[in-house]
Amino acid sequence: MTIDLAALPQDFVWGTATSAYQIEGAVAEDGRSPSIWDTFSHTPGKVDGDDHGDVACDHYHRWREDIALMKELGTNAYRLSVAWPRVVPGGDGPVNAKGLDFYDSLVDGLLEAGITPSVTLYHWDLPQVLQDRGGWPERDTAYHLAAYATAVAERLGDRVKHWTTLNEPLCSAWIGHLEGRMAPGLTDLTAAVHTSYHLLLGHGLATQAIRAAVPDAEVGIVNNLSSIEPATDRPEDIAAARRMDGHTNRWWLDPVHGRGFPADMREVYGVELPERSGDLETIAQPLDWLGLNYYFPSAVADDPDGPAPFAQSVHRPGVPRTGMDWEVDASGIESLLLRLTDDYGARRLYVTENGSAYPDVVRADGTVDDPERTLYLEQHLAACASAVRKGAPLVGYFAWSLLDNFEWAYGYDKRFGLVHVDYRTQRRTVKGSGRRYAEIIREHGGRARKAA
Ligand code: FCB
Repeated sequence: MTIDLAALPQDFVWGTATSAYQIEGAVAEDGRSPSIWDTFSHTPGKVDGDDHGDVACDHYHRWREDIALMKELGTNAYRLSVAWPRVVPGGDGPVNAKGLDFYDSLVDGLLEAGITPSVTLYHWDLPQVLQDRGGWPERDTAYHLAAYATAVAERLGDRVKHWTTLNEPLCSAWIGHLEGRMAPGLTDLTAAVHTSYHLLLGHGLATQAIRAAVPDAEVGIVNNLSSIEPATDRPEDIAAARRMDGHTNRWWLDPVHGRGFPADMREVYGVELPERSGDLETIAQPLDWLGLNYYFPSAVADDPDGPAPFAQSVHRPGVPRTGMDWEVDASGIESLLLRLTDDYGARRLYVTENGSAYPDVVRADGTVDDPERTLYLEQHLAACASAVRKGAPLVGYFAWSLLDNFEWAYGYDKRFGLVHVDYRTQRRTVKGSGRRYAEIIREHGGRARKAA
């Protein structure tokens, strides 16, 4: 498909994204301690196929090869996450220099390749020792996050300027503590609400910590938002869609924008927040940018007997779906970028994740052709350009993901990579979608050079 990306800024950031536990492997090397995801994935029945991240993409040893792949794609940025249990294996307390050495070399390698690193501090891999002490439902965990942030920022901050505190706190809180489908696997509304509160408090404290260590840091938070509409025009479904919007979007956006926690959702949850005076100000640190992870939209119906927020996504017949059974509809990315611009006054936006899983077939000649993923990529980039034409200050896009990797509770079966990974041999093969991404980046760069 031909797509018109002329509206994207000339110096657009073209990146790919990964996260530590999903690709690194080497879980017991150089002093790393177990995270809640090691525990969860090694608990039988929690992850499809009982897969785990012990080896994953072996990126801990193959990162040079992976940087070469980024170069091959022509990307100019890479979003990675640092594993807390590598850096502070005790959760709090002494810093493990060897754990930081890995990221230090990785950052140098990226910069040498002309690729700007964007570092996320927390992509769900809480040190298990902190879980044993209560985890995110405990206030102390927020302070430990900030101390860990200081350690990473002090070591990498001379070269890394682009920082994310949290990736998708929604998943940690709601999926990890309410639905139980992700680590630590709890189904406890009070624990979940307290987790959400302490994650956002940790975000504010970590933002302060990063800025103290790196005065010219550009700090943001990454949320996975969803464009939500009622499944029918029944008043119950309209109210359910409003609750789902609160649960998925407003609960995470309002507090960091100084609006506090949405009153309607506090009522829906009926859980007292562990508030202390000054917390809301800490949570609402001014941000340099906002990150949007977008995958799918939702049609929502009332679900009075279900868990909070008593609303559920329904299956719309006839809508195309990915291998995750997620709806494909690129208009959602555009409407969310515009909502962040118009309703939240965003001054700088990144799409920090966007991508699709499909069952890839490796051909006899070793190539992987993935037209559905390619189309998904093209449609969503076109929708990003459309949002820019309508005023969204979007400055970059990170495709999820560079590599096929450990897709959390779905294990290795769900492949999101622009690059295929054969887990038996660790052989990497750029897919058709990866080649198309490279072509898009080249064309945009060519246009930018012409305009300059
Ligand atoms: C997001 C996660 C990322 C990956 C994609 C498919 O929710 O941030 O790690 O699993 O979904």
